[in-house]
Amino acid sequence: MSHSDAVLHLRGESIFVDDIVVTPEMLHAFPLVSTIAHGLIKNIDFQAAQALEGVVAIFTAANIAGENQIGNASVGEELLASREVLYVGQPVAIMVAKTPELAKQAAALCQVEYQILEAIFNARIADNKGLHIAPPRTFAVGNVDNAWQDCAVIVEGQTESGAQEHVYFETQIALAYPLENGGLKLLSATQSPSFTQKIIARVLNKPMHLVEVDVLRLGGGFGGKEEQATMWATLAALAADKTQQPVKLALSRSEDMSFTGKRHPYSADFKIGLNAQGKILAYQVKFYQNAGATADLSLAILERTLFHAGGSYFIPNLKATAVSCQTHLPSNTAFRGFGAPQAMFVMEAAIFAAAEKMGLDASVIQQQNLLSEGDYFYYGMKAENARAKASWQQLQQRLTGQQQAIAEFNCTHRLEKKALALMPLCFGIAFTATFLNQASALVHIYTDGSVSISCGAVEMGQGVKNKLIAVAARVLSIAENRIKIESTNTTRIANMSPTAASNGSDLNGQAVLIACQQLLASLKKVAAEALNVTDIDAIRIQQERVYVKDVATDLTWSQLIGKAYMTRTSLSAQAFYATPDIYFDRSKESGNPFAYHVYGCAAVEVTLDCLRGRYQVDKVRIVHDGGQSLDLKVDIGQIEGALVQGLGWLTSEEIIFDDSGHLKTNDLSQYKIPDIYAAPEIEIEFLNSDNPAAVLNSKAVGEPPLMYAIAVYFALAKAVQAFNPDWQTVYDAPFTPEKVLLALYRKI
Ligand code: MTE
Ligand code: HPA
Ligand code: MOS
Repeated sequence: MSHSDAVLHLRGESIFVDDIVVTPEMLHAFPLVSTIAHGLIKNIDFQAAQALEGVVAIFTAANIAGENQIGNASVGEELLASREVLYVGQPVAIMVAKTPELAKQAAALCQVEYQILEAIFNARIADNKGLHIAPPRTFAVGNVDNAWQDCAVIVEGQTESGAQEHVYFETQIALAYPLENGGLKLLSATQSPSFTQKIIARVLNKPMHLVEVDVLRLGGGFGGKEEQATMWATLAALAADKTQQPVKLALSRSEDMSFTGKRHPYSADFKIGLNAQGKILAYQVKFYQNAGATADLSLAILERTLFHAGGSYFIPNLKATAVSCQTHLPSNTAFRGFGAPQAMFVMEAAIFAAAEKMGLDASVIQQQNLLSEGDYFYYGMKAENARAKASWQQLQQRLTGQQQAIAEFNCTHRLEKKALALMPLCFGIAFTATFLNQASALVHIYTDGSVSISCGAVEMGQGVKNKLIAVAARVLSIAENRIKIESTNTTRIANMSPTAASNGSDLNGQAVLIACQQLLASLKKVAAEALNVTDIDAIRIQQERVYVKDVATDLTWSQLIGKAYMTRTSLSAQAFYATPDIYFDRSKESGNPFAYHVYGCAAVEVTLDCLRGRYQVDKVRIVHDGGQSLDLKVDIGQIEGALVQGLGWLTSEEIIFDDSGHLKTNDLSQYKIPDIYAAPEIEIEFLNSDNPAAVLNSKAVGEPPLMYAIAVYFALAKAVQAFNPDWQTVYDAPFTPEKVLLALYRKI
């Protein structure tokens, strides 16, 4: 089964918001944005903009009828800055004009007078000044303070990991249409249709039922449209509501890169203590998250950081503290991994540093400390079906002789060095905000036997449609081409959670499963009656045919549906699913927050050109705990894509702001994402595993494999060491070729 949209994509026939043909009366909106990182708005002169022929209207915070707040928390996140601007790129007013060019021109003609205030861009400096989004949180188990005395080796250090731009193909975009009676319909590229609906209703002071949000598909989201599509949809909605004309708002690549948030950069301090054999006795870490200007999803991301501070390891004494620091940058946001990659990078750095000190290979320490079945995570959850060791061991079989071959290569090559590093994975599946772990589905069967499914999942390239089709086809035992997944729409599905946390197919798949089971139960009754069978349990549908026990009847799927209709049996079902047995007590920072964990292990091999600092990730071998896949090709695609995306984060993707908070790397000629040449040879093997905690024994796959790429950093560090033993290892991702080159020739 290939991706459900593959043929459409290949032919350029799949429709994205920007493909929708607009009529001549469509107006275009574009924001006037702050050009300073922090300050007060003293005055805005709109005269020249207003005088421009084709400019229809200009709206500011003063024109907002409801709350000027677009955040989860409903404080401190303005749609349009009313008084204070907090970052370069923050919308201050919205220009509405007859063409997109005119709207941009109008924005350029506005004169804003600011009183400039001090701007801070660094998390540690913000921390020093007490600029926190919320008080720090600490997760702990055992007692690190007492444990240090038992340690044979103690290492302390610091790490930095950088921001990352989402680079979804489709940049932020929305179309807003006024409907009768104050209503609005939005076509928005959002991962969170219900959140977008709620915010628009809040800002425009309307009941939510007047706002319909429809999402056909996204050209990628990667977390960047979980919260941050809302602003653009709401600005379009505001303009459409005020002018009573349809409005389009679309950002170009460089506007999108400049105005929207990225993966959170983190700075961290670690201290790790081990016994002489390499067993980790204690680990202490403090994370400084660079939140940017507002809360956005920073606190949820910070929480996931805390949940993944210990990586795939069992550590008896652990203390992890994290604080979200407010800076004057565009608010950083969800990005594949959601704070976990940042945490795992620090854990791996600590192990690497300890290994260096002990004269061991990091893998020796990694292996010794892997989680075992029945171990308790430091947040109170028991590791069940823990496959950290199983994946590690299965991977080892693929690596025999590999370290030896690399050592030989390095002996015989003076200016080229190879290295191999391992990365075990353990990632918790569920929204850490427990209430979000719910979903519903609406399934219709039409009289011709074709099936329509609506649910809360947004297709953004991750193949969730394939998986939902697979679930329905399996439960109903009908051909996949009878099933259509509808657009994600707030009038058909209410109160949906974002498609995020790798949870889209788990949650929505379960809801679809239940709805299909309900339909199947009524269809069996219809079949029993039609066939004069008293025992309903004897009825089965298999490959579009009704069976009684094991005997095929003449009754086909299409006929059965016809009979159901004629006997006035409902051919629609609505179902709801809530992940069972998850909870978390924040007063104790303990509970059972995840439905389950995804495990795996990767081995990354690199070759470094020691003359130029250039490098290549040659090969990545992965053993992945994928459950019983709902769609193997989709899962392989997700693993490969996530790995390469992670590789970019650790190597070439470097976000640079200038001293005044303007993004310098604001287009793809200055911001280098991996291309096909940077992609390594990837070999994926699946653990043969079950997963009773997810739909039809499958496992979530979207985010976890990104973290395999963390090994790239440490493989590169080893390759540098092989050339320059004097290099004092630093943990400062991304490890760009420039940094590698400097490391190769640095003496201490
Ligand atoms: N894959 C593609 N092609 N495009 C995307 O935008 N987003 C990732 C991942 N894989 C993404 C993707 C992220 S951040 C998440 S949380 C999951 O897909 C969401 O989808 P799922 O829950 O259906 O796995
Ligand atoms: N992951 C992704 N998105 C989220 C989460 C999470 O754990 N919690 C709230 N939004
Ligand atoms: Mo993914 S970062 O949870 O959208």
